[in-house]
Amino acid sequence: IQRVLTGITTSGTPHLGNYAGAVRPTVRASRLANVESFYFLADYHALIKTGEPARVQRSTLEIAATWLACGLDPEKVTFYRQSDIPEIPELTWLLTCVTGKGLLNRAHAYKASVDKNAAAGMDPDHGVTAGLFMYPVLMAADILMFNAHQVPVGRDQIQHIEMARDIAASFNHVYGEHFTLPEAAIEANVATLPGLDGRKMSKSYDNTIPLFTPRNQLRKLIMGIVTDSRTPGQPKDTEGSALFQLYQAFASAEETTAFAQQYREGIAWGDAKEQLFERLDREIAPMRTVYDELIQNPASIERSLKMGAEKARAVATPFTARLRNAVGLRSLS
Ligand code: TYM
Repeated sequence: IQRVLTGITTSGTPHLGNYAGAVRPTVRASRLANVESFYFLADYHALIKTGEPARVQRSTLEIAATWLACGLDPEKVTFYRQSDIPEIPELTWLLTCVTGKGLLNRAHAYKASVDKNAAAGMDPDHGVTAGLFMYPVLMAADILMFNAHQVPVGRDQIQHIEMARDIAASFNHVYGEHFTLPEAAIEANVATLPGLDGRKMSKSYDNTIPLFTPRNQLRKLIMGIVTDSRTPGQPKDTEGSALFQLYQAFASAEETTAFAQQYREGIAWGDAKEQLFERLDREIAPMRTVYDELIQNPASIERSLKMGAEKARAVATPFTARLRNAVGLRSLS
């Protein structure tokens, strides 16, 4: 049996990148035989990114409703909220004590902040919290607690999975074989989905297309995707075209080949956008209807999450007892 696990940070409204990079592959994986899935709302991680409690609560509800609307069956998978599992921060501490500070110094998110400050002539650690620095250890605890084999993520998270492997190996080296070494599972045709401005689609760049934005709003956003100044009739490059990459992430191989052919034939950008919109809306519309209903019914979402927390703790509690014992702490009973 393969264990598949992934999380989404509850710091904003889910967008197409989260869907293509995490939600869609996880829902598919959850339907395979011989797979045991753990999917969760990373709300402890959200505290690193935002100091707005209302936003964390809203986002938690939105991301939970998204997963359910996209077809996740909470009876079949273990679907939970990170902060319902107190063993996670406990494991974070056990892992912290075997994690080299140098490893964390190399984390992309932390380094980006430090480098940006330094380039601006400021104290490199200006505005950098210890939470941001520790982010990869918390994430390692998420993964290692359930001994996940596969972690479906977008490319931006690969380094974090590699760090989780390193941290697991350090712990195993000191205390014996307790952890499975996890691997990132990346969708081949998704890579990193670009946003409206062509940079990585990200809550922090404010360039996202929310997954369940109403149909007319979806169309408006797609019409605003940045393109080059080539006129209708002029051949277009698929390489580096955000529009093309978005299309590719949602279409079949045949559809993508046909779209590339239209690029070569000089399709007008307006027409290309229209086709992207229709293709996207075809996939999203049925799920959007379910989402709109679910989001009105937080109590039912809450019930699913409670059930998930019980299932997750049925694994986490005994495993934590074993780990406490392994490092020389008294087990709680
Ligand atoms: P987060 O919340 O930033 O993103 C959730 C998932 O969406 C993917 N993603 C993308 N994929 C393709 N193109 C994009 N533009 C794009 N933007 C986001 C991310 O790669 C991710 O898979 N640290 C994680 C959450 C987390 C986690 C974990 C994941 C916490 N613990 C344990 C896996 C295992 C994060 O902030 O993802």
